[in-house]
Amino acid sequence: MEVNLSGKVAMVTGGAQGIGRAIALELARNWADLVINDLDRSAAEALAREITTQKRRVLVAIADVADYAAIKRAVSDAMTQFGKIDILVNNAGWDKGIIPFLKTDPTDWQKVIAINLTGVLNCTHTVASEMSQRKSGKIINISSDAGRGGSFGEAVYSSCKSGVIALTKTWAREFARDRIRVNCICPGLVDTPLLAKLKQDELGKKVLDRIEQVMLLGLGKPEDIANAVLFLASEESNHVTGQVLSVSGGLTFQG
Ligand SMILES: NC(=O)c1ccc[n+]([C@@H]2O[C@H](COP(=O)([O-])OP(=O)(O)OC[C@H]3O[C@@H](n4cnc5c(N)ncnc54)[C@H](O)[C@@H]3O)[C@@H](O)[C@H]2O)c1
Repeated sequence: MEVNLSGKVAMVTGGAQGIGRAIALELARNWADLVINDLDRSAAEALAREITTQKRRVLVAIADVADYAAIKRAVSDAMTQFGKIDILVNNAGWDKGIIPFLKTDPTDWQKVIAINLTGVLNCTHTVASEMSQRKSGKIINISSDAGRGGSFGEAVYSSCKSGVIALTKTWAREFARDRIRVNCICPGLVDTPLLAKLKQDELGKKVLDRIEQVMLLGLGKPEDIANAVLFLASEESNHVTGQVLSVSGGLTFQG
């Protein structure tokens, strides 16, 4: 798909590797300028160099999405450099492993919630308040099919991803008057460093290999998710808001 995002500024959280990296590259290929947020400075800067060679403008914004003050500073830097953010992709996410709930503890829960749920609140709160003044914006949340159907060994992660779906629908209702569209993509399993990490232990490998076997179209690639983000970021999807799109190779079928 080719769309023209020329003149648009996109912020991708967790943009330095995996799905976020593919999203940043696809938006840049379609002429958007980029704010790449991540914790990993060297990976983010390497990606920024790659995008700069495509003659797009890039800001690397190193900040923990779980830290409201740090995200506020990153958004303020982006505003200084670009004057606006047109597209926010809430992609940063994390899980410790595939661990049965009774073997997890509150410290684990708090970190998973801080990144996967509070991170989405922090970024949307700071960016959408600026979008609402301009009466324009696109917010694309990366949830998971785990948030639609639950996922063995990922109780807290799944519940955060369900929360992201509820936030998508609520923000679509609240922000429509400001012409901000909010949609959500649910990947199934995607070949990224996160998936490789989750497969490192025996239970993780067993559970995830079994899920992969029932994905009708097989394991996803980061680019599969990036293509769907591009549509939701483009003007071609201007009449779409509050929707949840599984890009999961036929893992789930929701009525
Ligand atoms: N890979 C999959 O199978 C899969 C499936 C469903 C949903 N997802 C979701 O897709 C998104 C991307 O996943 P991925 O597989 O590319 O992960 P990944 O671990 O490969 O990449 C995530 C990136 O986010 C960054 N990051 C992590 N914590 C951060 C924080 N607190 N602040 C800022 N940046 C942070 C990491 O440094 C990394 O660059 C996540 O939200 C994940 O939950 C992934």
